[in-house]
Amino acid sequence: MNPLDEVRSAWASLASEINAAGEQQLAELRSRFLGKKGEISGLMRHLGALPADEKPTYGAAVQALRQMVESTLDRFQEQLRSGALQARLENERLDLSLSGDRSEPGTLHPLLALRDEILDLFVGMGFEIADAPEIDTEWFNFSALNMPDDHPARDMQDTFFLEKDSGKDSVVLRTHTSNYQIHAMRDRKPPFRLLHCGQVYRCDADATHAPMFCQVEGLVLDQGISFAHLKATIYTMVRALYGQGAILRFRPSFFPFTEPSAEMDVDCRSVGLDRDGWMEIGGCGMVNPNVLVNGGIDPESFQGFAFGFGLDRMAMLRHGIKDIGLLTAGDMRFLRQFTGLA
Ligand code: PHE
Repeated sequence: MNPLDEVRSAWASLASEINAAGEQQLAELRSRFLGKKGEISGLMRHLGALPADEKPTYGAAVQALRQMVESTLDRFQEQLRSGALQARLENERLDLSLSGDRSEPGTLHPLLALRDEILDLFVGMGFEIADAPEIDTEWFNFSALNMPDDHPARDMQDTFFLEKDSGKDSVVLRTHTSNYQIHAMRDRKPPFRLLHCGQVYRCDADATHAPMFCQVEGLVLDQGISFAHLKATIYTMVRALYGQGAILRFRPSFFPFTEPSAEMDVDCRSVGLDRDGWMEIGGCGMVNPNVLVNGGIDPESFQGFAFGFGLDRMAMLRHGIKDIGLLTAGDMRFLRQFTGLA
């Protein structure tokens, strides 16, 4: 048998045994026949020894064999993929037509359950709960909060602009609940303790960042308010949620709308998570006098503190959730774990 026929028959006998279940087997065949040092490339080495008039036919035959092997392997590969997809779809099948007679107990989503718990806690500390718009102008979201026009947070990369009109006040999906601070100051007269919880939007996504997430914003204005009040308030909340052993860290930081400012981190182990390190939950600080002025309040008469933290992060800490996206993916396998916990 000449080398070409040998390879042909080797292929023919192996091809008849390919079963569509073997990813590994397909890879092995591909490298054995089609690889750089594979059998078919090996055939081309005989080309030099052939008489000139046989070369074109031989070359074409090798090429045809290569194509045949390639298309057969591709076909099996495709079958394998669609088979695996089919099996996965079958496995994860969700019958949306199911009527309400199935005994799936309804329960609060972990985020809503935690939100209610947090609102209750703050109401217990004398806070009033209030609302604020998710679609707002750049003025409320940035300018009034002492964030100059060229502040990096306004960047297109972070902010979803709904209407961007140079010279005019653009409309944005708010990037934080701090827009609420300005609405609160303009709508009410201090002293007050206010809390607001709602969605915010940023062009960002990975395991700990989601493009839409929920923040809780607090604002306290009164006379003689100090950073100690702020610390005590946050500590009260964190210990009520995670137990008396919870350790919190106030790390000096910067926000244009508070001075001094801090970021708040929770010690993962102290709240029962099985890992070292700190998880950032939000920012806080004493309200910057410029912000009070923008809100129509005399900084000589009232001072206060503000804080904002991520509800999703708090829920991740509470339940040991590693990927923030799971909270909004609507996957029943994830959600079922919280049945009865609320
Ligand atoms: N708005 C800030 C953020 O989203 C958090 C913050 C709120 C900081 C209030 C200070 C005071 O990162």
